[in-house]
This record gives sequence, structure tokens and C-alpha cells, in this order.
Amino acid sequence: MSNLKAFALEPIEKASIDELRALQLKRLQATLVHAYAHSPAYRAKFDAAGVHPDDCRSLADLARFPLTSKKDLREHYPFGMFAVPRSSVVRIHASSGTTGKPTVVGYTARDIDTWATVVARSIRASGARPGDMVHVSYGYGLFTGGLGAHYGAEKLGLTVVPFGGGQTERQVQLIQDFQPDIIMVTPSYMLAIADEFERHGIDPASSSLRIGIFGAEPWTNDMRLAIEQRMGIDAVDIYGLSEVMGPGVANECIETKDGPTIWEDHFYPEIIDPHTGEPLPDGELGELVFTSLTKEALPIIRYRTRDLTRLLPGTARTMRRMEKITGRSDDMMIIRGVNVFPTQIEELILKRAELAPHYQCILTREGPMDNLTVAVETRPGVSPESLEARASAQLLRHEIKVYVGSSVQIDLRPEGGIERSVGKARRVVDQR
Ligand code: DLL
Repeated sequence: MSNLKAFALEPIEKASIDELRALQLKRLQATLVHAYAHSPAYRAKFDAAGVHPDDCRSLADLARFPLTSKKDLREHYPFGMFAVPRSSVVRIHASSGTTGKPTVVGYTARDIDTWATVVARSIRASGARPGDMVHVSYGYGLFTGGLGAHYGAEKLGLTVVPFGGGQTERQVQLIQDFQPDIIMVTPSYMLAIADEFERHGIDPASSSLRIGIFGAEPWTNDMRLAIEQRMGIDAVDIYGLSEVMGPGVANECIETKDGPTIWEDHFYPEIIDPHTGEPLPDGELGELVFTSLTKEALPIIRYRTRDLTRLLPGTARTMRRMEKITGRSDDMMIIRGVNVFPTQIEELILKRAELAPHYQCILTREGPMDNLTVAVETRPGVSPESLEARASAQLLRHEIKVYVGSSVQIDLRPEGGIERSVGKARRVVDQR
């Protein structure tokens, strides 16, 4: 039976801002003390910066503490940043970077419970109801997506189908047979599943699915609309990163769909200027930084996410929201001096009925010049050589020039011409 109590808002979700800030300060102070006392890596960083946990008397004092980045985790590979003995760690996850060693994270039993709590909260905010069945297509394994979603859904008392990524044809079959209400998957893999439905002559909108909880990669509001219409579901945004916890650091509320609400009682957000590292006021665009407020195994102090967004006031909850992420600094392309994010291209592709939302940005170099080619598929049934497809490519090229400011080439591909990922899509292919 579903855990009905789990469907009521937690008291902190209804707390006033003052109550929330008081709780955050208390938890922040405890986290700084814990990190300093038990993680030699943090102690060395604080000492080098001339700060001590006692210096944190207000939330604003957090800005005096040093920032942490992926580099710190790599330097202390694999377990050197942990603040508990390895024997107290009940779970390890790791994210494989594009270069070098993976970033390793660890959880105590209490951390796993906290994580399940925030994911359960996220699934509830996404519109789950008692008795729902959740099909999880995020990858299981070292990636946090599958197990993170799984524990949260179970904590809420829902029926979980732990499918994981891949075997697209079987995914469709089990969705048809089991009739799940909710799917948790990357938006790009959702599109591959939708294609597979259509290949079998089934309208994906006719499936039992009511809600999709999408994250792990940037996706635009236009992509949201496209998925909602095609699948006949509500599409909500789940955000997170392994270094901070995994999925469920923030999640959109279905009633507003206006950017993920940050579960601020566990993760304290800041926005900094990515160049100077200086904190920026709410509302300004910059790099998102997180400090964990309750984590034991791997407290994370002022972690630079490389994600670009802004902090917005709460709407459906008192807790603040983040604007839907439109880019990571890692994905930013600089084409002849103009900054370009794949999501900007995505928005324009989605406007063209002749094009499918499967695309990649391919970077090449010609002498001193960087060139960007946008490889994009035509819709099934539309040949890349057809007049309508070529006219569409011309228009796309023109719009990218006008709205993004870059001259690009368009490479039209037939259906299946862009590699499908079963997890995070690779949007930028650097051939320089
Ligand atoms: O992707 C955790 C996760 C799993 C989130 C499933 C949501 C759903 P990492 O592999 O460590 O963790 O990658 C984290 O993915 O810094 C963002 O750049 C990106 N990302 C995650 N969620 C979103 C989102 C998981 N909703 C990195 N929108 C983050 C945009 C996202 N980007």
C-alpha cells in the first residue's frame, strides 16, 4: 500500500523564510565544523584561506570560505575528501568525466535516507499520486540517476520498475504491458523511446504515462512542450549532480513548472560570477554553487557546479527556485567570439516542423577559424534532399545567425543519422 503520509507536504516545505534561514544557518555551522574536524582536505583548504568554522555567524559569512571544484575531488581520488571512516560509507557512486579519473562520492546510511527523502519530495512535487507506478529509465550503476530515482520512488511507497537505460524496444513493451503512470528518464532518451513507440505503430500519447520527470542534461521549455504534446504527459524538471547528492537537489512543482525548486533545507545555493568567484545577488545570471547542509560522508562546501542559471523567489513553495538550466560552462562553444550553447540551437530546431529534435553541434577548425556545423535529423518521412527539408535548413541557418549571432553550416541527416544515447545526449562533438 502506498505510504499515504508521505504524500503530505513536509513541515519544512511550508515553513516561513525566517524559519528556513534559521535552520540553514544551524545546519551550515554544523557542516563546516564536521568538514573541518573530519576531512583533512577541507581543513587544509580552510587553513590556507585563513578561515575557521567559528567565522560563520550568518549565512552571508559562507562567502568567506573557499570554493570547491571537481579538481579537489580528483586530487583526493578516490576517498580523500570523505569526512567519515570508509567503513561508515554504505554506497559509492562515481561520474566519469570526459578526461582523467572519475569523481567519486560516498554516502552514509543517513545520507542515503536523506537522498531518498529529497527524491520522494521531488516525485511528489512532480504530481505523483498514491498507487502510482514509476518506470525508471535512468541508468543504474555508478551513475546516480537510476538508484537515486529508485530509492525516492520506493520511499514514497510507489511501485518501481527498475528498467535502467537501453533496450529501447523492451522499454516500450514493458510500458505497454505494465501501464506505469510516471517515467523518469533523460529528455533525450524519452525522444528515442517515443520514436520506438511510433516504429511499432503506437501513438506514444496513448500510453498509460501521465508524468515524465526529466533531467541529467539541459533541455529547453520548447523541448518540454514538444515532449508533452507527443507523449500526452506533464513534463517536469529534476536537477541534481553526483557531487552534491545526485538527482533531487531541486525539482519543479507541477502546478507551476517554472524552474526547479531547490530543496534548500539540504542544499544551500549561491550564484557566483564565474570569472571572479564573487557572489552575485538573487536574480543575476552566474554559476550555481552548492553547500550541503546535512551530508555526512562527503560534505560539500561551496561546490562549483559549472551550471549557469539564476536564483528566483519561491512560488509553489517558500524555497527558492533556479531558472531552468540552459547551459553548462563546459558545453559553451565560442564561435568567432560569440558564445553559443546547444540549447539555443535546440530552441530553433524545435520551431521547424520538418526537423526532428535529434541534433549535435560539431566543432571543426579551418586554419585559425572555428567552425560549427549543426547536424540535425529530418522528421521521419521527410528526405534530407527534399525541397522542404532544404528550405527548412536555410531558415534554421538564418535564424541561428539572427538570434544566436553565429554563422553555421547545417548538415541534414535522415532518421537515425544522429547517434542515440540511452542516457545523457552528447550535444557537442569537438573535432578540433
Ligand atoms: O546527472 C544527476 C541526475 C540524474 C539529475 C538524473 C537528474 C536526473 P551528474 O552525472 O553528476 O548527475 O551530472 C550533473 O548534469 O551539473 C548539470 O550540468 C546536468 N544536469 C542535471 N540535471 C539537470 C537538469 C546527474 N535538470 C550535471 N537540467 C549537472 C539541466 C542538468 N542540466
